[in-house]
Amino acid sequence: MVVFLALTALTAPARADALPPIIAGVARNLPVLARNGMVVAQEKIAARIGLDILKRGGNAVDAAVATGFALAVTLPRAGNLGGGGFMVVHLAKENRDIALDYRETAPAAVTADVFLDASGAADPKKSRDSGLGVGTPGTVAGLAYAREKWGSGRFSLADLLAPAIRLARDGVPVEDDLADSLPQAVRRLGRFASSRAIFLKPDGAPFGPGEKLVQSDLAATLERIASGGPKAFYEDETAQKIVSAVRGAGGLMTAEDMKTYAPVERSVVRGTYRGHEIVSMPPPSSGGVHLIELLNILEHFPISETGPQTAATIHVMAEAMKLAFADRAEWLADPDFVKIPLSGLLSKKYAAKLASEISMEKARPSAEISHVDPAPYEGDQTTHFSVADREGNAVANTYTLNFSYGLGLVAEGTGVLLNNELDDFAAKPGSPNAFGLVGGKANAPGPRKRPLSSMTPTIVLKDGKPEIVTGSPGGPRIITTVLEQISDLIDHGMNATEAMEAPRFHHQWLPDELRVERGLSLDTIRLLREKGQNVVVGGTLGSVATIQILDGLMMGASDSRQRGTAGVGW
Ligand code: GLY
Repeated sequence: MVVFLALTALTAPARADALPPIIAGVARNLPVLARNGMVVAQEKIAARIGLDILKRGGNAVDAAVATGFALAVTLPRAGNLGGGGFMVVHLAKENRDIALDYRETAPAAVTADVFLDASGAADPKKSRDSGLGVGTPGTVAGLAYAREKWGSGRFSLADLLAPAIRLARDGVPVEDDLADSLPQAVRRLGRFASSRAIFLKPDGAPFGPGEKLVQSDLAATLERIASGGPKAFYEDETAQKIVSAVRGAGGLMTAEDMKTYAPVERSVVRGTYRGHEIVSMPPPSSGGVHLIELLNILEHFPISETGPQTAATIHVMAEAMKLAFADRAEWLADPDFVKIPLSGLLSKKYAAKLASEISMEKARPSAEISHVDPAPYEGDQTTHFSVADREGNAVANTYTLNFSYGLGLVAEGTGVLLNNELDDFAAKPGSPNAFGLVGGKANAPGPRKRPLSSMTPTIVLKDGKPEIVTGSPGGPRIITTVLEQISDLIDHGMNATEAMEAPRFHHQWLPDELRVERGLSLDTIRLLREKGQNVVVGGTLGSVATIQILDGLMMGASDSRQRGTAGVGW
């Protein structure tokens, strides 16, 4: 079928069902194809649940909400009720783009010095391993808000929760990412009896392949939300249990913090890249701002001529990344607390100035850009899914518990795993968080403040219609992963799967190292080193869920860096 269509596309004039040139007869890696609707996610059961909603007449928002709740059951290391995230929505009929911020919020009792030890040094144990790191969760309020405001109206919240309830009650097979991630989380989960009881067997071993993970308490919590709405999570019994778990682990959350949590509808950040319109997430995520800043810088370089995966292209992109991440550390934070020079950071003129400082020949040491000390990398465990429907609506959603399985603490009797998102604050100016990111006073912890994120759910529009819907997990590597996806599609004419397969690279200013995935040629690495790039090879970067839409044909790519990801469509 593919071969037939490919030949047709090469020999016949363009037809509605012909394959576009990015896959017709030239592509080595083929995306999933659909015309009526598509969901791409990091776990296949949840992706199929979203697709089923689309088939039953739901729109992209309905499908995103159902997938979001299902991932809390099937991908518990990152899908969640006890975390938070960001959603970018394109509504076709109204030709409107919306950013929904349902990021976790610091409890009212949090102060700027909350993560310091007695000597005034940052104490990572406080932000990563105690209840102090838990932000008031935003996911339940955010997903419910999205359905209420932008859903088709054909599905109640209970309808969209029903598949997740069933999965939690009946159990999900322990395979793919769940089987891969549970053994790595044994220590973090094993610290809490409430978590051990769900995720580990009586002998302390994690559930494994051939077994089922049953989450009865989570099913009951989801059922309460289905009958009582988000209030059933943020007030009453569930809220009390969450507050008591957080406080029992040394945190400061109160019932009032839960009761007053609200998602925030924000204006998207917008930019253009070589005639395509970029629509992405504004602060308190840094993702959209720096994606656009980076694309603005790249417009000054002939990226399509220097070509994909070459030292010249990677060098220029790495130099741009350093500059953007230096800006991130200085300027970005919760916009409700800090004035961010947004229009400057997004302006083409500012990018022109930054671009003029980049040498094609020589890497600029990060220390020349700033004097803060380098810091190490650590793991990332967020998740992203993309949805498109046949009406032209699209949703890009990224949400997280921060670490894999968050703090590792299930609030007793709720089945809800709690986040450690407040580690994304700058505990002290210049002290790195778990991703090695430094920040200044702007991103200091504060009461009811939202920690700075890197999540970059993004929709690219062409002639006002969604052309790319994308995003990724990966902490700071989210921004650079999304950048490379967009550049590969627009500059190099790759299809979504080719772009997904391409080896990735990442520079975040500090530490001063250019991390590259295996697969980049040794010649390229040598050339990069000759330019002064401190290349470090290894690890994987990001995990995209991308839908590319050309002439109504949806082409999906789920990342092969993790098992069990899926792009499904009809
Ligand atoms: N917790 C990772 C991020 O929000 O960027």
